[in-house]
Amino acid sequence: MRRAIYPGSFDPVTKGHLDIIERSSRLADELIVSVLNNSAKNSLFFVDERVSMLKEMTSYLPNVTVGSFDGLLADYAKRMDAAVIIRGLRAVTDFEYELQIAQTNHELYPDIETVFLTTRLEYSYLSSTIVKEVASYGGDISRFVPQQIVERIYAKYGVGD
Ligand code: PNS
Repeated sequence: MRRAIYPGSFDPVTKGHLDIIERSSRLADELIVSVLNNSAKNSLFFVDERVSMLKEMTSYLPNVTVGSFDGLLADYAKRMDAAVIIRGLRAVTDFEYELQIAQTNHELYPDIETVFLTTRLEYSYLSSTIVKEVASYGGDISRFVPQQIVERIYAKYGVGD
């Protein structure tokens, strides 16, 4: 597998995302982790904060770079000359949406393939939304996200002030 893109919101990055990044970095020659810059979405972290957290968390992986994109993922993948889009699948509930996006992207650019990695069972329930929900009430998020970003998430909610 040549150059691959792992796109997402990563608001914030979770241990589930990091597991997919590590595993897909072993499949691809080069992996670009890319944050969607979606001004329509009410995000907890600014895009540059998400990019910098991802850079910090993936610095030990030599073939991984981190960026951001706006507009259509398929156009971005084409521009970056990526042959593969990586997505994680947690449960059957992800499937319909992911299938629809993958098929749309394939219609747009038939030479770009989407590859799904199933998430590890221990992270199959995990999402950025769940992390935010737990953090907003001051709950323990240390098993969901890397230790280095726990306090940054709480700070957004004024937890521990
Ligand atoms: O982490 P997420 O929020 O599940 O990531 C979703 C993402 C960024 C992969 C998806 O929303 C996306 O690709 N958005 C860009 C617009 C686009 O290309 N949509 C799919 C074709 S309709």
